[in-house]
Amino acid sequence: EKGGYEHFMLKEIYEQPRSILDSMRGRLVAESNHMMMSGVREYENKFANADRIIIVACGTSWHAGLVAEYLIEDLARIPVEVEYASEFRYRNPIITEKDIVVAISQSGETADTLAALELAKSKGATIFGICNVVGSSIARATDAGAYTHAGPEIGVASTKAFTAQVTVLTLIAMILGTKRGTLETTKLHQLMAELESIPAKVEKALKLDNQIVEISEIFKDATNFLYLGRGYNFPVALEGALKLKEISYIHAEGYPAAEMKHGPIALIDEQMPVVVIATKDSSYDKIVSNVQEVKARKGKVIAIVTEGDTTIPSMADYVIEIPETSEHLMPLLSVIPLQLLSYHIAVMRGCNVDQPRNLAKSVTVE
Ligand code: F6R
Repeated sequence: EKGGYEHFMLKEIYEQPRSILDSMRGRLVAESNHMMMSGVREYENKFANADRIIIVACGTSWHAGLVAEYLIEDLARIPVEVEYASEFRYRNPIITEKDIVVAISQSGETADTLAALELAKSKGATIFGICNVVGSSIARATDAGAYTHAGPEIGVASTKAFTAQVTVLTLIAMILGTKRGTLETTKLHQLMAELESIPAKVEKALKLDNQIVEISEIFKDATNFLYLGRGYNFPVALEGALKLKEISYIHAEGYPAAEMKHGPIALIDEQMPVVVIATKDSSYDKIVSNVQEVKARKGKVIAIVTEGDTTIPSMADYVIEIPETSEHLMPLLSVIPLQLLSYHIAVMRGCNVDQPRNLAKSVTVE
């Protein structure tokens, strides 16, 4: 059932070229410049005219929501708020009939996410769901939605569900940008072609496995990790840190790289591994400075860079090269080495990666 893999998590990491493709199949045909999502079409006007989009989710799904905030605000120019479902539901939030609330959940059974959307529904908002499990409670409670087609995710640590969520959210941002006229046709076509090439690039990123095993060997006994990223890679930093702590029990924190000097920089010494996601994008020059700041304090830098980059590799201790793509799509590639890193470190530490202590696959109690 694990298809020859030692753990479900590894099998699911390796399924991503396929699960990403399945999540866009029939929804994106780049050759004919065609995009289609039935759930979105039904509410297209409402979506396009919404005062704002509120995304509610927990854990990894919340990280996918953060990526969507960058995508939707940039491509469709609709204000987006991303909320922890547990906080949103209890703070008497302001919700109107002109809001669209998007609930993201792999299992479709997360108690806080379900309660948050029920609250929003009672205030008259339109509820859109992005779930992986067909017919789940959240999927049934929404007005409309789009399934991720990641297939069953068994490993407790979410991997392929995350990239499937980001794929679906990217398509939604592109559809809304087109409808609202905020996304130029040339840029749209570029993004469509890029998105179609993502599964092959994920396949390539998976070939980094051996190199990541070597890095994991070096850092498996660390007690703390810092993950830094900017822009589209900021949510990926959060996700990398979450993956590491949940399955290897190593303390890890994800931060927007610029926030480092507002506190976490105090932690950096020669013992501290710092994973910096530093791909070539609009914040590249800024992240170069952040890497310099870490090196000046003798931190050990593990950098995720774009193929062919020479600047960051000249400063970092360990370099992992991933294929180039548009910054809008980079989380789909930059998260892959982080999933593998946490997996290998956890295995080397003898942890039960598929069923980490104290965690459940779906959190049906608050
Ligand atoms: C992380 C993880 C959890 C879930 C969270 C939300 O790897 O598995 O953080 O992402 O419990 O679950 P869903 O998406 O099922 O609502």
